[in-house]
Amino acid sequence: RLEASKHIKIVDNDKPFVKSKIQDLAKYRDQRVSVSGWIHRLRAQKGLVFIVLRDGTGLVQIVLQGDLANAYQTSELTLESTIEVKGEIKKLPDGKTAPGGHELIADFYRVYGLAPSGEEAFSNRVQEDADPSLLLDRRHLTLRGDTLSAVFKVRAALLTAFRKTLTDLGTIEVTPPCMVQSMVEGGSTLFNLDYYGEPAYLTQSSQLYLETVVPALGNCFCIQESFRAERSHTRRHLSEYTHLEVEVGFVTFEDLLQHVEKVIIGVTNDLMSQPDIKELILQLNPKFKAPNQKFRRMRYTDALEWLNDHGIINSDTGEKFKFGDDISEAEERRMTDEINEPILLTHFPVEIKSFYMEKDSEDTRVTESVDCLLPNVGEVVGGSMRIMHYDELMAAFKREKMDPTPYEFFLDMRKYGAYPHGGYGLGVERILAWICDRFTVRECSLYPRFAGRCKP
Ligand code: 4AD
Repeated sequence: RLEASKHIKIVDNDKPFVKSKIQDLAKYRDQRVSVSGWIHRLRAQKGLVFIVLRDGTGLVQIVLQGDLANAYQTSELTLESTIEVKGEIKKLPDGKTAPGGHELIADFYRVYGLAPSGEEAFSNRVQEDADPSLLLDRRHLTLRGDTLSAVFKVRAALLTAFRKTLTDLGTIEVTPPCMVQSMVEGGSTLFNLDYYGEPAYLTQSSQLYLETVVPALGNCFCIQESFRAERSHTRRHLSEYTHLEVEVGFVTFEDLLQHVEKVIIGVTNDLMSQPDIKELILQLNPKFKAPNQKFRRMRYTDALEWLNDHGIINSDTGEKFKFGDDISEAEERRMTDEINEPILLTHFPVEIKSFYMEKDSEDTRVTESVDCLLPNVGEVVGGSMRIMHYDELMAAFKREKMDPTPYEFFLDMRKYGAYPHGGYGLGVERILAWICDRFTVRECSLYPRFAGRCKP
């Protein structure tokens, strides 16, 4: 609560004004403007009241003086109250700093909604050091903070950059269904759904659908929610995540690897070329540099050798790594963090990869598969060339004991004009965690879903 409190009625005057969003205020210097938003910060000093107002597009400092500062209404203002303010927008004198390099000298303001004070005051609801679970319960409020709002502004720019980069690369955007009857990445992480009495699932990946789009529309991509019933509580697993998937036809495995590289390089450089987004990224991750060179290539067997040479033991077996072992999240991260640059890890064994992956013609024990690993996060992309021939795909179904019935649409791709093709999926929250240096992908999802949390 502010102290000064006189019974002064605050009335508007009839001077003309321009209604503006905070981000556009620089255009209206020395004019009378009206801005509306939420009180982000509030302090009184030497008979003046300073408000930092937030409207989602930015922050602006507002100065209340004279009667406005002394009015009883002003003494009642609280953080997160909503107000409309009118007044002149003035460049700051040299030596003073505030967002945008200007301040709004108010001549009128009115209150739309007064936020609670006391026990229920905003600052008591969102203490940064509170239990993470409590902060997630209050995500609708914590989103208003400087850090989370910066992450989600970068996320919006990231999605736009993906769309632009992929469109420039000649791929077309489609929106496949989320309610499906086929699985892509193994039965153990499927969310079941009662679909009018028929069994169905929430999609794990739109890959099979994208494979059917290429013959119709050409190379394509989608940005769609994917769902995985992942029981494990890790830094990089969500139950619902935003999945960017790409499928391209008439390519070699090398073409596919270059596609992944081009997209990550293109998107991050696009972000860093936008001054406002660059500023947000550097605020969150001061050391961030967009990659420019070709990514380091490592085959799966090179990774095993690297892990063994560095004395990293396979935590699943308690022994040295040998061909056929899965490289778990922790060990993969140790390697990626140590190497500290993007890696394209390729040629994983058939047994530890998905049923649809094409084998390497020179070594049929391994697949033409790729994971792109980034420091601090690990795997951000998973992709492969796809089995092209019908009989080989049927053999893969048999090997994996999968019933081919629900996959007729997918198998038909191998009958009606089989084509060499490949694609990949990229976890949007994971790449955002890398760009913004977030400890967990939970910070990169608006309302994260993981085992034990499906609210608010
Ligand atoms: O490696 P995944 O499982 O590959 C597929 O789904 C392929 N069908 C994609 C394709 O080829 N079209 O998943 C791809 C990416 C991972 O590299 C990871 O970034 C992300 O999706 N991902 C998750 N992100 C957050 N939470 C989870 N539970 C994730 N599971 C996968």
